[in-house]
Amino acid sequence: MILLVNGPNLGLLGERQPEVYGSATLADVEEMVREACAAYGVEVLAFQSNWEGAILDFLQQHRQEAQGLIINPGALAHTSRALHDCLEALPCPAIEVHLSNVHAREEFRRTSVVAPACRGQIAGLGPRGYLLAAEWLCAETARPLRVVRAKRAARGGR
Ligand code: DQA
Repeated sequence: MILLVNGPNLGLLGERQPEVYGSATLADVEEMVREACAAYGVEVLAFQSNWEGAILDFLQQHRQEAQGLIINPGALAHTSRALHDCLEALPCPAIEVHLSNVHAREEFRRTSVVAPACRGQIAGLGPRGYLLAAEWLCAETARPLRVVRAKRAARGGR
């Protein structure tokens, strides 16, 4: 199972600064990620909160069952050492995603304090950034369905 976590203000996607963040809603993003992961037979557990502690609680609660984490921490990326430490304690790989190119915006967005605790970062590719993260995590941590099917076919369908 893959965890998909969005931090503060990302519940407003679609209406919040669409010129920066696009017109897709959070529900659209979650559905896209679910579909992409379903192709690999991987389930997605999605969560959004404006509360740092709620995000930490969610991550800790699901840390053992998760094979990967896609996280857009919103502004917590720039400030939260507690989230950094929480990500560092996760047994699974985490990918940090930002819809906008945080490196081409205000100075304060150029630093991510959580990035050192993540396997990688995708920024500036809009909602497709989540998809790329999903595909990488599925391919890296799960056996793709087509491999499973090919092996089953080789066994004569058993
Ligand atoms: C964001 C970038 C952050 O700087 C900002 O605080 C957000 C959204 C993004 O997806 O581009 O809330 O994480």
